Amino acid sequence: MKNYNFDENFVWGVATSSYQIEGAAGDDGRGASIWDEFCKIPGKVVNGENGDVACDHYHRLDQDLDMMADLGIKAYRFSIAWPRVQPEGKGAFNEKGLAFYDRLVDGLLKRGMQPFATLYHWDLPQALQAAQQGWESRDTAYRFADYARKIGSVLGDRVASIATHNEPWCTAWLGNATGYFAPGNEDLKKAANVSHHLLLSHGLALQALRADGVKAPLGIVLNQSPAHGATNSPEDLAAASLEYAKFVSWYMDPIFKGKYPAEALQWYGDNGPQGVIREGDFGIIGTPMDFLGINYYTRIFASASGPKRPPGELGFTDMDWEVYPQGLTELLARLNAEYTLPPVYITENGCAVNDSVVNGRVHDRERIDFYDLHLAALADAASLGVDVAGYFAWSLMDNFEWASGYAKRFGMVHVDYATQKRTLKDSALWYRDVIARHAAQADSLEA
Ligand code: FCB
Repeated sequence: MKNYNFDENFVWGVATSSYQIEGAAGDDGRGASIWDEFCKIPGKVVNGENGDVACDHYHRLDQDLDMMADLGIKAYRFSIAWPRVQPEGKGAFNEKGLAFYDRLVDGLLKRGMQPFATLYHWDLPQALQAAQQGWESRDTAYRFADYARKIGSVLGDRVASIATHNEPWCTAWLGNATGYFAPGNEDLKKAANVSHHLLLSHGLALQALRADGVKAPLGIVLNQSPAHGATNSPEDLAAASLEYAKFVSWYMDPIFKGKYPAEALQWYGDNGPQGVIREGDFGIIGTPMDFLGINYYTRIFASASGPKRPPGELGFTDMDWEVYPQGLTELLARLNAEYTLPPVYITENGCAVNDSVVNGRVHDRERIDFYDLHLAALADAASLGVDVAGYFAWSLMDNFEWASGYAKRFGMVHVDYATQKRTLKDSALWYRDVIARHAAQADSLEA
């Protein structure tokens, strides 16, 4: 175990998302989401899997909360399924759906854990997709603000924070440019327009929540990576710079600087979002935030001649993502130099390991090393002056890994999908010790 210190208010958490764990897709009036539809398209998800049952968390809420409490987890980042609480994406709210999140939040508080809510982790009500092409439509941003306002009125007094979006880059790019995620479009212009409407919806939601006097800290969760050239040739360095602009600056600049990055705008050319930007949008998008959530998994390795495999000195995860912890320090230091950041949470970090239960144990040494190295990298960023407020491991338990289905296991708890049995992996026991040790350190600091 590496020796990292964080300040005594540092938040130790785990993260999940609604569609990946809840299941109960047809229960208690939940509407369909774009992921329910997407999973039906042959070839889109490995083995044709879907989130109908997932970890059955909807029916096992108390058991899962007890398990988290036993691990000493201090904070839980979850997302709310919009179609569960507002089946059509507009109009009537579903009391039974709202009641589930009410129980979840109360259940966390009762066990001494802080609820970190995310409003949108990709499960858009299918009704909005069918009626108005989802995020292609500006109106969807206003519907999102209405939904946010409702959640604020129901949970806003008890949650520790509210994030508007999880990884809007994935929604826009993977959902609309590459077709890898729902709704499965392959159209650059759609992706650009969607990204603008997502950012707009973020700002509108913040404004709506503030207007209603919601006291919980508000922010957004962005997936980010530093980008390196495969070589130091000017062409590869230019490719890296462009990838960074499209991936990171495309979301950071509108929020913190009131504009899209010129380099990426130029790359989009006629396919850019120009046609859907209205006067005043950047003022809304730039509504001040109380925190920034960053999901970090790996770096971008760019070359002018297309994707290149990075060296992977520390290996690759089961997703074939390079293990590159120092990228987290580099990223945070760069962001801190370039923007005036609010406190930063690492809202996701973790790795897929192809692990299995042997004699009741799961020896996921790779995952322990992964977390350990990234926590050390995070501590390095803190020592460079980044205001680091907390860390959420992805994920509490194995779950539905989107287009990869159930084969990719990201959990610190193993899930046997046939029986729904949960087994603590070695990494969960390790994390429990890290949290406990930190608490002991914090006590001795106070004394
Ligand atoms: C992130 C997603 C999360 C999970 C991890 C592995 O991009 O936010 O839902 O799938 O990747």
